[in-house]
Amino acid sequence: MQILEDLRKVFNDFLESKKFTQSPSQLYEPNNYFLSIGGKRMRPVLVLLGNHLYNKKYPDVLPAALAIEYFHNFSLIHDDMMDQAPLRRGHTTVHEKYGPNTAILSGDALLVYAYKSIADIPERFLKDVLDIFTNTAVEVCEGQQYDMNFETQSAVSESEYIEMIRLKTSVVLAAGLKIGALIGGADQQDTDSLYHYAINLGIAFQIQDDILDCYGDVGLVGKQPGGDIIQNKKTILLIRALAKAKSEKDSSLEQILCKSYPDKKEKVIQVLALYEKYQIRESVENLKEDYIQKALSYLENTSLHADKKEILLQLVEYLVRRKY
Ligand code: IPE
Ligand code: IPE
Ligand code: MG
Ligand code: MG
Ligand code: MG
Repeated sequence: MQILEDLRKVFNDFLESKKFTQSPSQLYEPNNYFLSIGGKRMRPVLVLLGNHLYNKKYPDVLPAALAIEYFHNFSLIHDDMMDQAPLRRGHTTVHEKYGPNTAILSGDALLVYAYKSIADIPERFLKDVLDIFTNTAVEVCEGQQYDMNFETQSAVSESEYIEMIRLKTSVVLAAGLKIGALIGGADQQDTDSLYHYAINLGIAFQIQDDILDCYGDVGLVGKQPGGDIIQNKKTILLIRALAKAKSEKDSSLEQILCKSYPDKKEKVIQVLALYEKYQIRESVENLKEDYIQKALSYLENTSLHADKKEILLQLVEYLVRRKY
């Protein structure tokens, strides 16, 4: 979609101009590396888009977009360590390439630079944006903790899962769009509606992330295939498969999850076979559709003109039917 490509270019040019050149290089180089190996830049694009919806041009909003992308990348560097992920964006993860201590400290520095960038936004928006940003950052930590708790929690309900992904994923997308709209001059009703649109979009986005972890093309996704299965992550696929197995009185999935596999690929193959048997993919695709429809319903509450609503409609298509 052209507008998204244009906004991504605006953001990438700004990001490029902010490359870390400070010393010591051991602290900053890993961040330059991580920011240079790709990424869809969806969160900063949402910040710019929020602004664009209200016919504002970008200078005021670029530092907020940068802060959100720094925050996202900080969270991924730490997430990859927590998830023991070897691959991200088709490249070696920071903790694998530079070691865990560097992943902790370079990630921390990136978070601090996110706040430094917030300080560059116009003063009249500062308090509101800082509040949204800080509340969001805390929610992500809460979501990440639930994500880890659930690895060893045998029964996780779908509502617990939805709340976990709302916290770890949706709130960052929603905060981005809300901040952009706020700086663009949107009123409270619009910023609230856009926030809820993006929360539901974010839930569909994370469901797609779970699907891609199992069924994505590794060349496109750039992450270890089946990484969630290897880590016993309570994705929506696993939660639905466990429920189905229980109703069928089939204990094989529980057994696979308890067993230790010298070859992790074997575990992935066995779990995927059960997903196939229980038609899990179709079932979670339907759930994803429900959240897409929910997201779209919030657009009706905004004052946006049809052409702007159309962008947000296409954004949904782009984000939740993505291949990477
Ligand atoms: C990955 O986000 C982490 C999730 C919350 C699903 P993205 O899929 O947006 O990652 P990049 O930035 O494009 O690599
Ligand atoms: C990541 O969720 C969420 C955050 C980084 C806050 P995942 O662990 O599912 O993301 P990927 O699959 O590693 O990108
Ligand atoms: Mg992960
Ligand atoms: Mg994770
Ligand atoms: Mg994932």
